[in-house]
Amino acid sequence: MHGILFLALEDFLEARLGEGAWNRALQAANLDDQEFEPDRYYPDSLAMDLFELSARQLKQPLTQTLELFGQHMSPGLVTMGRSMGILQKDWKTLDILEHLQSHVLAPFANIESGVMPPDIRTYRLKHGEVAVAYVSRRKLCALLKGIIRGMGLFFQEPIAFKEHVCMLQEAPLCRMSIFLDDPFFLRYVDIEREFGTVHSRISEITFYNSFQGVPFSDLGLVLRYSKEEVLVQVPPMQLHTMKEEKQTFLSLPHLPQGLKALIREVDGVQGFASLVNIRLTDGAVGCRRFLRVAPDKPMPVSMKLGKRLFRGMILNISGGGVRVLLEKGCRLPEVLLFEPVTVDFSLPLKYVELDDTIVLGPVPMALEGNILDVSPMDGSMAMRIVFSALARRDSLIMEQYSTKMHDDAMEALQAKVASARNAK
Ligand code: HEM
Repeated sequence: MHGILFLALEDFLEARLGEGAWNRALQAANLDDQEFEPDRYYPDSLAMDLFELSARQLKQPLTQTLELFGQHMSPGLVTMGRSMGILQKDWKTLDILEHLQSHVLAPFANIESGVMPPDIRTYRLKHGEVAVAYVSRRKLCALLKGIIRGMGLFFQEPIAFKEHVCMLQEAPLCRMSIFLDDPFFLRYVDIEREFGTVHSRISEITFYNSFQGVPFSDLGLVLRYSKEEVLVQVPPMQLHTMKEEKQTFLSLPHLPQGLKALIREVDGVQGFASLVNIRLTDGAVGCRRFLRVAPDKPMPVSMKLGKRLFRGMILNISGGGVRVLLEKGCRLPEVLLFEPVTVDFSLPLKYVELDDTIVLGPVPMALEGNILDVSPMDGSMAMRIVFSALARRDSLIMEQYSTKMHDDAMEALQAKVASARNAK
């Protein structure tokens, strides 16, 4: 273990217990005259003994002592890191964590004498979150947490932990996620960093919009970006849907989470759109298995929950499920998650083709499903239902309905784009 950790421990003990505490710990460890140099390495067992003795002196469990020690050490590590030039001046907790292995701990390795830096792997999931895997056989995860907590206090950031697994509970490694517990930062996108990555790799972004209740998506390129705004080039039809919706969802190839942006301006001649207010969404976008459409005319629906009957209007529907706005004043019982439900509605199709037969519409449907959630909406309640696997007949009908909705929307969109082009 590196000498600076012993010097830091001396400082910590004396700060907590007063002068002489360090010497008492050294005596108890039979190390009376031991001096520690800030540029030498010492056996790990020495450090572990001194951690145990410190815990005993402080009358605290070892993990608690290590956390407090880490927290105490943080400001000193930042000062030292800055003066060594391994920490950039504007780095805060998550930036330091992001560069921990490559920039911060690597300079302390001394491969010739067999000293390797601690194995702490970090991955920046997004601006406000870093995933950490700690694999060291020293099992000092409490120290790691303490240092991170201390960094948060030092930089006055609302640092929080999501702990997934821990070595102290028999796991082979510790894995946790460190995040800024602030709704603004959880959705914050570092535009220069993320769009700079896409721009430098000349990769394409996928845009997701909808038109007449039908989803449309296409690829685009980043032309320019600043701290607040991104200029993208997008094919005409997608550009039109973006202009109508005044917003877009997008996924960048290197980001696991999707983004949402407002459209500030569209240049239909050049095929450009400028995106502002770019924020993270709750998860990935564009991963739906089924085409989800919103009916163009009101589509009544009734739902049977045991012996009770509820009515409402379909907000959107796919082969995977449906979202319903319940009738005003509809009194829901204490609805349990995943309660089974039968959904009855009628699809406004002129006809459907079922193998060799043609069935005239409108087509009645009765699908089984389960309630996913219920939430307040427009003075009433909206209910999401996931369908159980559809029978072949139902799945063919749903497919034909989505295709028809898609074709109608595509035709209307093409007509709009053509008339905009002719108007120029
Ligand atoms: C968020 C920031 C940091 C965290 C979470 C962190 C965490 C840790 C942990 C858990 C250890 C002991 C791990 C083990 O050996 O298994 C450690 C050791 C060490 N850290 Fe950090 N550290 C941070 C920042 C820094 C900075 C800024 C410096 C230096 C300027 C630094 C220097 C060291 C050194 C020298 C050791 C001892 C390495 C050895 O003996 O092999 N750390 N750190």
